[in-house]
Amino acid sequence: METPEVDRYMKLVGPGEPAGELLRRYWMPIGVAAELTDENPTRFVRLLGEDLVLFKDLSGRVGLLADHCSHRGASLLYGRVEERGISCAYHGWLYDCDGNILETPPERNDAIMRSVKQTAYPVQELVGLHWAYLGPQPAPVIPHYDAWVRRDGHRKIFVQPVLDCNWLAAMENSMDPAHTSILHQRQGIENTTRGNIDRIAQFDFSMIPHGLMKKRVWKNGVVDEHPVLFPNVLRHAGETQIRVPIDDTHTQIYIVDFYPTPDGAEVDDEPEVEHIASFKEPADALHPFTRFDMHPEWLEAHKAQPQDHMAWETQGPMADRQNEHLSYSDQGIALYRKVLKENIEKVLAGEDPMAVERDPDHPIIDTNLDESIRVFQRDPGHGPEVVAIAGAGPFQWKEAGR
Ligand code: FES
Ligand SMILES: [Fe+2]
Repeated sequence: METPEVDRYMKLVGPGEPAGELLRRYWMPIGVAAELTDENPTRFVRLLGEDLVLFKDLSGRVGLLADHCSHRGASLLYGRVEERGISCAYHGWLYDCDGNILETPPERNDAIMRSVKQTAYPVQELVGLHWAYLGPQPAPVIPHYDAWVRRDGHRKIFVQPVLDCNWLAAMENSMDPAHTSILHQRQGIENTTRGNIDRIAQFDFSMIPHGLMKKRVWKNGVVDEHPVLFPNVLRHAGETQIRVPIDDTHTQIYIVDFYPTPDGAEVDDEPEVEHIASFKEPADALHPFTRFDMHPEWLEAHKAQPQDHMAWETQGPMADRQNEHLSYSDQGIALYRKVLKENIEKVLAGEDPMAVERDPDHPIIDTNLDESIRVFQRDPGHGPEVVAIAGAGPFQWKEAGR
């Protein structure tokens, strides 16, 4: 249970908010790079509560500017891209990718061009996604996590349906391994209250340099150990789930799946991309005015996310941590909150928080990826199908959920 002040302190993402300032120390994916095309060169982006426009100018540079034009506020989403940047559709003020004002039609207003700047943020491309950094300069680098930078595998990106709630619900869920046995239980299981939880011997949580490790030991001897990469990434089996706060009550999750080549050969192909349809009907409504598709067929397809979205969204657009009752099995959540608070304090003290990388040449960060893939062995090149569990005895992935 948290006080209202601490609850807000941990979850609000806007500029100036404690968690918002923490989250601004990390690069966040904002869209599929291949979808910013010459035909559709502008795209609206809401990130950490800020309304922005991503664009590609005719020189091929990619910029991210505040949505409202500095002149009188029309949206740059409708701007015309040119060689030197983007020109507001309303009166033609021309901006470059750094937010400099290059022209102010119909006149040339040097005073404005010298003194006014459109808010601009840097953009990078990695694993087929555009990433943005909204924090103070100098910007760090995107951490070289093995699942993102290793060359010996193919990747696929899943753009999840927008999650209509605060990002912290998803992150707390990632430190809550007990839920997988209950929420993601199979049809026909003998005990619907306990799911398959009694097949698990123990859970453990520990700190690692870039986040928090959770360990699940099954009674049949299988050990599943995978991390939360601080602050907002779950690395599970070959996938990373990146939870990007759109604003306080919406989250965009990108899943980057990594399929190593069987012989370790390096490849250089673009990730395949799949946009996942809504898990609820109506898609744009909130609980209780919508209904999630909890059908077990989702699990047959090895997808637990519809059930997760149900659990996260029905906690409320911003879950109320003042009326919860944490139990022993919530120790991972308590640990995540402790780490979150400690790192918010670091940012407020002017220090870099956990997992901020500044060396562009830092070595690949091992997240226990090979071992996770070994436990949940996947069929490389054939999407997210789980085909076997090496050395896993009678235990099957299908019973574990995700
Ligand atoms: S509102 Fe953009 S140029 Fe006038
Ligand atoms: Fe789950």
